[in-house]
This record gives sequence, structure tokens and C-alpha cells, in this order.
Amino acid sequence: MIPSCPKSLLNSPLINLSAADFLTPLQTQGKAVAVYRSLCSAATLPVSACSGSAVKFIMEPKLYRPPPEVRGMTSLDKEAFTQTITVPALRVPTGVLNKVVKSLKKSAIQRPGIPRVVQDKEESSDFRLVLLDPHKVSSTTSFSEAEAEALRSFSVSEELQHYELQLTYHNLKTEEVLEAVLPQGQDVTSSFSRVGHIAHMNLRDHQLPYKNLIGQVIMDKNPGVTCVVNKTNMIDSTYRNFKMEVLAGEENMVAKVKENGVNYEFDFSRVYWNPRLSTEHQRVVQLIKPGETVFDVFAGVGPFAVPAARSGAKVLANDLNPESYRWLQHNCKLNKVEKKVRSFNLDGRAFIQGPVKQELPALLKGTAGVHVVMNLPALALEFLDAFRGLLHQEPPCDENLPIVHCYCFSKDDNPETDVVKRASDSIGFPLESQCSVHFVRNVAPNKDMMCVRFKVPKEVLFSKDHDQTEPAPKRQKCEEATDST
Ligand SMILES: C[S@@+](CC[C@H](N)C(=O)[O-])C[C@H]1O[C@@H](n2cnc3c(N)ncnc32)[C@H](O)[C@@H]1O
Repeated sequence: MIPSCPKSLLNSPLINLSAADFLTPLQTQGKAVAVYRSLCSAATLPVSACSGSAVKFIMEPKLYRPPPEVRGMTSLDKEAFTQTITVPALRVPTGVLNKVVKSLKKSAIQRPGIPRVVQDKEESSDFRLVLLDPHKVSSTTSFSEAEAEALRSFSVSEELQHYELQLTYHNLKTEEVLEAVLPQGQDVTSSFSRVGHIAHMNLRDHQLPYKNLIGQVIMDKNPGVTCVVNKTNMIDSTYRNFKMEVLAGEENMVAKVKENGVNYEFDFSRVYWNPRLSTEHQRVVQLIKPGETVFDVFAGVGPFAVPAARSGAKVLANDLNPESYRWLQHNCKLNKVEKKVRSFNLDGRAFIQGPVKQELPALLKGTAGVHVVMNLPALALEFLDAFRGLLHQEPPCDENLPIVHCYCFSKDDNPETDVVKRASDSIGFPLESQCSVHFVRNVAPNKDMMCVRFKVPKEVLFSKDHDQTEPAPKRQKCEEATDST
């Protein structure tokens, strides 16, 4: 319950008030003391609340800023964030309460866990207080024309009341907590990727001393997140997964996710999964028609292979990482497409020169399309030479040559030209006039992920200059998808 400041005090030279000073939490000895005054009413104010001759009102730009003692905290103490602030309020007759709240949408307080309507200080059942956002409302003139008009039409007094609000850790946003804790002036970016129940962060060096606190805050503020991890090294160059450290929550790394309506399960610490590729997976899968064949050279846990099979394609999917291979099979089973997907645990080159080479001659005689998906952007272009001289007998027509969707990164000013040139160099044939390039996403400043699409030229596929020998890869497994998880 907040009393108002006497007019005499408003005129005191020690307390020189302006509208801008209104509703400022005063930081006194580390504790937020609510100092409040009414600009228009002259009710009594207890000495304790508005005395203190040395009191100076400072406009606090961030009213919700937690107490300063939390700075430097490395182990989360939620209680230390509790403070009392003063917010403006309107005294509204209960009969028009809903209508008033509706018409004050812009000015009403909006904070996680803070009610907009509270009991009137006089505990009258005829009135309630509607709490207002102190950053938007500092005086009666703060209301928009429409809001002021609505208040008049409902006969609500525009006189501002002052309400002492207890603000706790639960009412603060992630950034507000972290900004208050981490060293001043340093970046507190708290972004993360969400993979099922796992929040996946990439903390900077200066954030590491606070890593467990950051993890706990991310978990508290994001319903459904029960585990927060931090990447502890660069991406593993072969299997494209990260070493990671659990910052908060359970150690369970087996994530369950849904992408484009398809369910996947996998051990996030041991395989590659990127939630930012969902649109790209969908784009490519939509290009594949029922009855067509897909060779997925770097299949991961199946985000191209499984939906392609679900939409009626026949799929041969491969990954060198035994864990990805295992989860790929699991996901085929999970989505009931295990009969449509043959999975392999080979090096990509061995896959092209083995199963792809074996299947292609028959497929080229048919009319159904053939796709080769190669999503290993850091290296895939280097695998294109595996198509040179892959087959010996040319088909009667070249209409059904396999369509390659090959991913790559480019740091060039003109990524389209760059990737086509590199693809042409690798495959040993100019692709400029017979390919299309799709921008996938920007992965870092000046680094784009692109997808080059082209039909493997028959001059490449049947080239006599590059006779291929049968591969003898170190690790070779090939079986129909079974549930091995
Ligand atoms: C960028 S991920 C793409 C996975 C999946 N296609 C996707 O879109 O999410 C590349 C995958 O290639 C696999 N990989 C890496 N080197 C490989 C190789 N030489 N042969 C086959 N697979 C490889 C990795 O294990 C990883 O699963």
C-alpha cells in the first residue's frame, strides 16, 4: 500500500521533483527502497518513506534492474534478486475493470508473473488497482489520446496511485538477470539453440566463470528446457558434432525433436543435428517425387532420408559416424519407413563408388528421378570427383541422369560464382550453364552455406579417363534399417 507525498515535500529544495523523477527506486545501502510521491494528491506520507534530507531522486532508466549486490555472483542465489519497486496504478471501479484493462493494453504493466490487477490499497471491494508500466506512464499526460478518452468514458480518475511491488527473480527476464550478474559493460548475450529438452550455448571466455549460473537461469526461464550444455571445442571435423559440457540440469543427451512433422531421436552429444536446417531439409524433400530414388551420402540421423521415404521415395542413406548410422536406423523405425530406407556406414566416397554405382545403371534406364544429397558443406565438393568415370555403359538417353544437391560454404564476395567454379573444378567439367545455386543460410560473418544443384553430366559419369577401382573402405556396414538403439 503506497501513501502519497505531501505537496510541501514536492516543493522542498532537497527533493526537487519533476515528472521524469517520478517512480524511481532509490538504491540505498544496496537495498531498493521504494520512494514514491504523488504529483497530484496530498495524502500523508510516512517519514520513513520520503524523508532523508540527503535524498536525491535520480531517474533510473532501468527500473527493474536487480539490486547491485548480485554483481559477480557465480552460484545462483534467487533471494538476492528480491526488491521492492514503486509502479503507477489507476484506481478503477470493479464494474468497468475488464473494459479499462482492455483499453489500457499499451500502458498496463507486462512482466512475467506480475498481475495487472491487484487489490485496492483501501481493500475496498468496489475498486481495484490496475498496475501500469512505469517506463511508459510517468504522469497523467503519459496516456495516449485513446486511453485518456476511454478513462473518461468509464469515469475513471486519471490520478495516479502508487503501488509497492515486490519484484523477485521470477519476474526478471534472462538478460536482466545476466546483465546484473556479469561484469559491467561486457556482452551478456544469452542466445542458445534448442534441441528437444536441451539448450545448447556457445559461451564466450568472459562468461565461463558464470557458466553454471547462466545455465541455471536459461533453464529456469525456458519451460521445457531441462538440460543446458556449452560447446567446449570447435566442431569435430569428421562427424560434425561438438564436445559439450553440461552446465545445468539433467545429463540426458538423448533428444527427441520434431522437424517438419517428423519425429527424430538421437544422442545430441554424439551426432550432428542443426535445428536451423529444417527449412532446407523441407525444400529439398519437396523436390523429390514418390517413386524416385535418393542417395543421401552424408545422411546424419536422417532429416533428408526419413521424410523423403515417408513421401514415397526409395532411399539409400549413408553416414560414416557409427552413432549417426545407429540413430538413422532408429529414426527409420520410429517413423515406420525402415523398409524404404537402406542404411550404410561408409565413407562418402566408398558409398558413391559402392552402392550408388551398383544401383545407378538400372535406375538410369527407368524414368523415375534420381537424387544425390551431399550435405557436408565443409568437404562435400571434394567428393564430387567420385562421379568421374563411375559408370561404363551409357544409357540410351541422358534424361534421367542423377541430380546432385551438393552443399558447401563460401566466403567469397560472389558466393554463387565461387561455388559453381569449385564444383566444376572438382567434378572436372564446366557446370556454369547447367546448374542452379541456392543460398541456404549465413553461418558466420562473411560465410554462407550454399547448395549447388546439377545433373551429373554424362561426360563425367561415363568418362573413360577416370576409371574407378572398387573401393576397399576400412569400415563397411550395410544393412536394412533395424532398431539397434
Ligand atoms: C553436416 S552433417 C549433415 C547431416 C544431415 N544430412 C543433416 O542435414 O542434418 C554431415 C554428416 O556427414 C557425416 N560425415 C562426415 N564425414 C563423412 C564421410 N567422409 N563420409 C560419410 N559421412 C561423413 C557426419 O557424421 C555427419 O553426420
